[in-house]
Amino acid sequence: MGEPDTGSERLRDEAAAESLVARILARRGTALESTQGLDHSRDAGELEREARAGTRRVQADRKDREEILEVEYRQVRLEKVVLVALRTDQSEEEVDTSLRELAALAETAGSQVLDALVQKRTHPDPATYLGSGKAKELAEIVRAAGADTVIVDEELAPSQRRGLEDVVDAKVVDRTALILDIFAQHAKSREGKAQVELAQLEYLLPRLRGWGESMSRQAGGRVAAGAGIGSRGPGETKIELDRRRIRTRMAKLREEIRKMEPARRTQRLSRRRGRVPSAAIVGYTNAGKSTLLNRLTGAEVLVEDALFATLDPTVRRAKTSDGRAYTLTDTVGFVRNLPTQLVEAFRSTLEEAGEADLLIHVVDAAHPDPLGQVAAVRTVLSEIEGALEIPEIIVLNKADLAEPERLALLRTHLPESVAVSAAAGTGIEELAFRIETALPRPRVEVELVLPYSRGDLVHRIHEEGEVDSEEYVDAGTRVRARVDQRLAADLEPFVVSSPDEAACKTHDRPLRAGPDGDDE
Ligand code: GTP
Repeated sequence: MGEPDTGSERLRDEAAAESLVARILARRGTALESTQGLDHSRDAGELEREARAGTRRVQADRKDREEILEVEYRQVRLEKVVLVALRTDQSEEEVDTSLRELAALAETAGSQVLDALVQKRTHPDPATYLGSGKAKELAEIVRAAGADTVIVDEELAPSQRRGLEDVVDAKVVDRTALILDIFAQHAKSREGKAQVELAQLEYLLPRLRGWGESMSRQAGGRVAAGAGIGSRGPGETKIELDRRRIRTRMAKLREEIRKMEPARRTQRLSRRRGRVPSAAIVGYTNAGKSTLLNRLTGAEVLVEDALFATLDPTVRRAKTSDGRAYTLTDTVGFVRNLPTQLVEAFRSTLEEAGEADLLIHVVDAAHPDPLGQVAAVRTVLSEIEGALEIPEIIVLNKADLAEPERLALLRTHLPESVAVSAAAGTGIEELAFRIETALPRPRVEVELVLPYSRGDLVHRIHEEGEVDSEEYVDAGTRVRARVDQRLAADLEPFVVSSPDEAACKTHDRPLRAGPDGDDE
């Protein structure tokens, strides 16, 4: 049925039985490399054996015990996965890169990638995605590898997922479910959690029929509760998510999110009001954003050998070498083909970026397709109001891993970029200088005498402005500085002359501020 295969590639059989996994590992890009350190020792655990034994038992009874099968499948907690991709009009390299990313995503979610299958077709089979012949081949691979889950590198229609699952007789999860799952594991703030839950429910709703009611019951557990990929649904474990309940829950979540918005806006506004210039670190997931934030601020932000370690934005204060304060925000990592259900959640964490004075766009220079990543990031940024107009510094990170020729080539495409190694600390000084230069500088020149009782204002001038001279006179601290409009307004009562006048006026006359601010 469906169109005939135009050819397929089971990468394990290729080139002296080199599996795709082996190929990926051999030519590993940093996205996958970063997952290398994940501990799979727990795979050998008791729980795994129990769960897998359970799966085999129900496989035998599949025909008449479908419901139990569904339930037991979703209890397989530590998945051993086989990846599947369709190659339609993409190049082999593009499929490889995408699969590498899928492997890294799967490992981030806690799975172990055992094998992979790439199928060439002009378009997906409507019934089984791969076509029935290839689906049967996949079933063999899954059995031989001892896998319990198949992850498809695309979003499947509910019927395709079910059709493929029927042939393969193992759990089938698509890329969207996988990403949703990772987001569910990483969301930390109340709002982040609510948004991810909403996205999961949106994904689940049209799939309820296909997955059966037993499935919906399983969708409640999070990873902490022991459910596997694609079943780490929102809400309470084993909650019965019929459509009506899902819709009610979704409405409630939307309302919660709506109520949380003003608080977030207020926080942002208060930061804006403080007028401390802000820089937002953006970039593809795993590019090294958190590492760079730590390097620039000395903050201890979670740096993890996994994708999406950062989901909620982290804000830190930093200082330029001349003492000006600014904030640095670490934002969520970008990923290609972000599930549409997540775009909203993602965008809200990126609003910070849209309001920054400067974007620090971190690129993993050692990745096989850094320019593709830059393009993916810019596509998402283009959807955030104002983000494209913000000055941007491109940081080619992981320069220690990238081959010098590749780095040089990359610099020809991204001529204004700065090459650094956030991990090793190289290039950071140049980057700090570039940040300093790009941040907006205070423009209003003021000359003041601040009474000694107003040390708070002197402090603010140092924090927010640029001090040109400072001396202590009888009446207080005499300061010449450049500040922003808001601080200038607060300093108004202490201004002794305009800078122009200052040039032709002597100030050695002690200034005596009268009760009304008059110095006569
Ligand atoms: P997300 O939170 O997923 O968006 O990732 P991120 O962009 O914040 O990346 P993170 O800082 O967590 O770094 C990802 C991995 O890359 C970690 O294993 C880091 O140790 C590693 N890494 C970061 N910078 C460098 C670097 O300059 N060189 C090398 N070799 N590794 C780096």
